[in-house]
Amino acid sequence: SNNVNSLRVASPTSNVVSELADIDWDNLGFGLMTTDYMYIMKCAQGEAFSSGELKRFGNIELNPSAGILNYGQGLFEGLKAYRKHDGNILLFRPEENAQRLRNGAERMCMPAPTVDQFLEAVKATVLANQRWIPPPGKGSLYIRPLLMGSGAVLGLAPAPEYTFLIYVSPVGNYFKEGLAPINLIVETEMHRATPGGTGGVKTIGNYAAVLQAQSAAKAKGYSDVLYLDSIHKKYLEEVSSCNVFVVKGNVISTPAIKGTILPGITRKSILDVARSQDFQVEERPVPVEELLDADEVFCTGTAVVVSPVGSITYLNKRVTYGSEGVGRVSQQLYSALTSLQMGLTEDTVGWITE
Ligand code: COI
Repeated sequence: SNNVNSLRVASPTSNVVSELADIDWDNLGFGLMTTDYMYIMKCAQGEAFSSGELKRFGNIELNPSAGILNYGQGLFEGLKAYRKHDGNILLFRPEENAQRLRNGAERMCMPAPTVDQFLEAVKATVLANQRWIPPPGKGSLYIRPLLMGSGAVLGLAPAPEYTFLIYVSPVGNYFKEGLAPINLIVETEMHRATPGGTGGVKTIGNYAAVLQAQSAAKAKGYSDVLYLDSIHKKYLEEVSSCNVFVVKGNVISTPAIKGTILPGITRKSILDVARSQDFQVEERPVPVEELLDADEVFCTGTAVVVSPVGSITYLNKRVTYGSEGVGRVSQQLYSALTSLQMGLTEDTVGWITE
């Protein structure tokens, strides 16, 4: 028989739509809730983005041969909007996300929106979806910009057309542990990034590459994986979805940015906050052995904010931190950062966009 004749045309599946009334604002996790609108802007290769539009949130159509589907030509960003008690809506350092997207676009051979276009698009998307921003103190509206090669290619080449898209979702805590310390395992076989690769930009493939180790770690009861550098296999890199910091006395250290580490905006902000609180801050290669006698370890990211680490397992040895819960330094930096982000501290550094 002819197989083609037995193919049936599936009816289109409808989108799963979230209802605002169904949201339990006191127990937001980090899962997708669909909102009202998404932002879409397109341009041809070799041209610049010019104007975009808000559309009802829904599935998008892509040619099966789209560059992003076939060759992973794509980047994403992540930032958050907070609702303040006075009704204002705050964005935290959105121009940093705009610039990081531009840097990544260069690496991935894609055109990118200008910083102003990015900011206008983010603001329009947040305002259109503002009923989905959690009440003050209950969470935030996570903003997910995507930049992708949406045009069709068959031979390996940059796509002929690009799409910039933004969708949003109300979120709470990233890890199921909530604000409690997470448990990490150091991965000694698989690596997240390699010198000269794309670890330093927010390309989608970096995140697919960590799923196997992450799944294995979760199956063993760990919260996530801590990666080592791929050359010496002895220096800390980052966790699947966040950067890592080690605290010893008054010194706060984090791996230096050198192409294999994602230049986190929360990472950079925490370094500044720590300096302003008179900690000694060091960006340098951090040998894995330093985990063994650290006072505290914490992770930073837009999604995870500042997440204290309760234990790290390395070569079957488990080191624990903060026997009385969250460490003092992690707590202090978390409080300083989040009160800035939520507009509870005066923004003397110019990090907030209303
Ligand atoms: C973020 O923190 O926004 C990220 O991009 C991490 C992501 C894997 C949830």
